[in-house]
Amino acid sequence: MKKILFIGAEAMPFAATGGLGDVMGSLPAAISAADGDVDVRVVLPLYGAVSEKWRSQMTFLGHFDVMLAWRRQYCGIYSLVKDNVTYYFLDNEFYFKRDTLYGCFDDGERFAFFCKAAIEMIGFVGYYPDVLHAHDWQAALSLIYLDTKYRHISGYENIKTVFTIHNIEYQGKYDLGILREVFDLSDWDTHIVEYDGCINLMKGAIVCANKVSTVSPRYAEEIKSAEYAHGLEKVLEENSCKLCGILNGIDYNFYDPETNGGIAKNFSATSIYDKYENKIALQREVGLPENKNIPIISVISRLASHKGLDLITEMVYNLMYERDAQLVILGKGEAVYESFFTDLERAFPEKVKALMTYDRDLANRIYAATDIFLMPSKSEPCGLSQMIASRYGAIPVTRETGGLYDSIKSYYEADGQIHGNGFTFFDYSSAVLRRRTDDAIDLWYDEGKRMALIGKIMTTDFSWKASAIRYIEMYSSL
Ligand code: GLC
Repeated sequence: MKKILFIGAEAMPFAATGGLGDVMGSLPAAISAADGDVDVRVVLPLYGAVSEKWRSQMTFLGHFDVMLAWRRQYCGIYSLVKDNVTYYFLDNEFYFKRDTLYGCFDDGERFAFFCKAAIEMIGFVGYYPDVLHAHDWQAALSLIYLDTKYRHISGYENIKTVFTIHNIEYQGKYDLGILREVFDLSDWDTHIVEYDGCINLMKGAIVCANKVSTVSPRYAEEIKSAEYAHGLEKVLEENSCKLCGILNGIDYNFYDPETNGGIAKNFSATSIYDKYENKIALQREVGLPENKNIPIISVISRLASHKGLDLITEMVYNLMYERDAQLVILGKGEAVYESFFTDLERAFPEKVKALMTYDRDLANRIYAATDIFLMPSKSEPCGLSQMIASRYGAIPVTRETGGLYDSIKSYYEADGQIHGNGFTFFDYSSAVLRRRTDDAIDLWYDEGKRMALIGKIMTTDFSWKASAIRYIEMYSSL
């Protein structure tokens, strides 16, 4: 039996804020389903946000103390099994019983504790993995501690390591002055984590890991260049023999228009017209005119500029003025965008709904109702929304970058056949986004073509199946 231990800061359905949580919550089960000979386990912080529903299913395995520089901190271990995957939760209320998962002044210390405790836990529970698979900067120190402090201990010598970059923008950068006091590293370890005069935890993990992966093949190429690497291009170039890209999948059980109990009417690729019941239901819910014969364009996104929102804001006023379409925006983030969309709704009360919040169930209802889904990201490691939208029969309009490039190909017709599964563009320009959005609207108004394309989009495989096998191959190669 091959033993894999995932370590990361969040996982659905226990506690999650974004795409990392989706992946940590669905990839382990997909790996275990793809190969019965792989035992995948996951270690997470026990955040205050983890609900009683899950807590009541946990077993307390014991506790130990974790030394972090001069600190001695309690760590309790709880576990539960879900979909054949064992989840371990590390309990320390001082660090994790807070209102948010991240964004605290002491995140560096919190995740240093988490990483050290996770490595200690391996010995405590006696689950020595063949591969320790760490995700994003919050888990980076686990690989660094393993190499600098634990390799001499029996059971830890031969653990292989993988580090997955979900978004290179967030690297875990700190002042070198806290190397010893907070991160419990010595001057001898400086060369591992130092980069550009700071501590850079992601860089340290890239250097220590046997393999570095990222969440799409295209992004794996992009992050070797300065345009995408947020300063880490040199490190990735030097470590490029370790680097590979594996496209994410989505949880096909959770994102399923045929069984989702939270939408007005279930539908599938063979009953696309039922989708329009969901459109009427959404129009009623948000207060837009109820009309099946007008396309709903939607944006479901964190309102951050790298999501390409500047392109949308530049072109959307004219778009709404000129075209028969409705627009629904769901998300929160930078104040400029929130106020822009709120103003847009005021300018077009019959056409635009700006929902400046995040709500997963509402997101599902919007996906089910959407005809055209905009995602013009400046950079996108993988992106999951374009896949979810596709599964719900929305036509994606995406920029050709990262995982968007790998998952959505442009529509064209040849030999009486339709090719592609969306409308894409490369130039980061609002005029081009506008043109492709118009193309999508034009196609939508041609019912025959619309139905053929939606059928194709809904049956494109975005499940974890193929990618889970690629992960297993990667583990075997170690
Ligand atoms: C990050 C990336 C996103 C990716 C997700 C899961 O949130 O920004 O593109 O899909 O991680 O890997």
